[in-house]
Amino acid sequence: MITLAVETSCDETALALFSDKEGVIADVLSSQTKIHERFGGVVPELSAREHVRNILYLFDELINTARVGKDLKEVDFISFTLTPGLILSLVVGVAFAKAIAYAKRKPLVPVHHLEGHIYSAFINREPEYPFIALIVSGGHTELVVVEDFGRYKQMGSTLDDAVGESFDKVARMLGLGYPGGPIIDKLAKEGEYIYDLPKPLYRDNSFNFSFSGLKTAVKTFIEKEKIRREDMARSFQETVVDILLHKTKRAVEETGIRRVIVVGGVSANSRLREVFNHWSEDEDIEVIIPPLKLSTDNAVMIARAGIERYKRGITAPLNINPEPNIPLEEFGKMWS
Ligand code: KG4
Ligand code: ZN
Repeated sequence: MITLAVETSCDETALALFSDKEGVIADVLSSQTKIHERFGGVVPELSAREHVRNILYLFDELINTARVGKDLKEVDFISFTLTPGLILSLVVGVAFAKAIAYAKRKPLVPVHHLEGHIYSAFINREPEYPFIALIVSGGHTELVVVEDFGRYKQMGSTLDDAVGESFDKVARMLGLGYPGGPIIDKLAKEGEYIYDLPKPLYRDNSFNFSFSGLKTAVKTFIEKEKIRREDMARSFQETVVDILLHKTKRAVEETGIRRVIVVGGVSANSRLREVFNHWSEDEDIEVIIPPLKLSTDNAVMIARAGIERYKRGITAPLNINPEPNIPLEEFGKMWS
């Protein structure tokens, strides 16, 4: 079974051809980082325009690098991100997916962007259920129990900033550029953990997160004293990683589920990977973190989740429209 996958929910235009037997056939991606850099974050309208500008060229590139012919005869269905995301950006990918589905008479399979991140942990293997998913990206921070494909139970989420967003905001305050996560990650290697930052909601009984207080604390430090940027990067990163590990450990204790995946852009963080892998070894918990290239947004993960949905015979009508924010749990119920 082969799918063509489309992802345009934020600032990456991405397409992939993926087979359930052979894995990735071809994948292409065009990042808009350079365009949004000077604004310190993604500008929705610019993002949509860039998707429009790039998507057909990317499609040509995809087909030219793949053994699949331009007529898409070997492709069984089209997977695409339906929600959540910037609505104008989603519209471009959904319109593209629908046009191909119509022209080539292929079924359409909708995927939730976070579902895509979840299945980025299973590109070359079958998932074993249940497992706990810690989803950490620029737009989301969620702890979810995945009981089966499409059966998602949210344990907790952020009450304010997403963790990737807080990396980006702190990097901006430190004058480090955009996106902040990879820059802080690199700089932190040269710094010391010397600044004591708050850990909001650390001791409460919920599985929720809060990162806006942390950002404010960094701001106060910067205003009060002359800080060393590498030390602040290290202190901030250690604090965030500790919060994420602590809540995930508690989720394992509470549910008794000893299989954990960590996915989304922030799972590219080197310190997060190190700390979660140590935990896995020390306490014999199965921890799966996707390879770096699949941590951040891509279309391979959308294809992988699309395969799971199509295997269950679930497709969408041609008049389907994108939505800016359907929660994962609800989406699972709607499309399973
Ligand atoms: O999953 P993603 O590519 O897009 C969304 O769905 O949001 O995540 C992007 C986020 C950005 O906030 C970026 O700063 C963060 O992931 N990120 C990182 C690292 N690489 C990307 N955060 C911490 N450390 C990294 N190495
Ligand atoms: Zn994402």
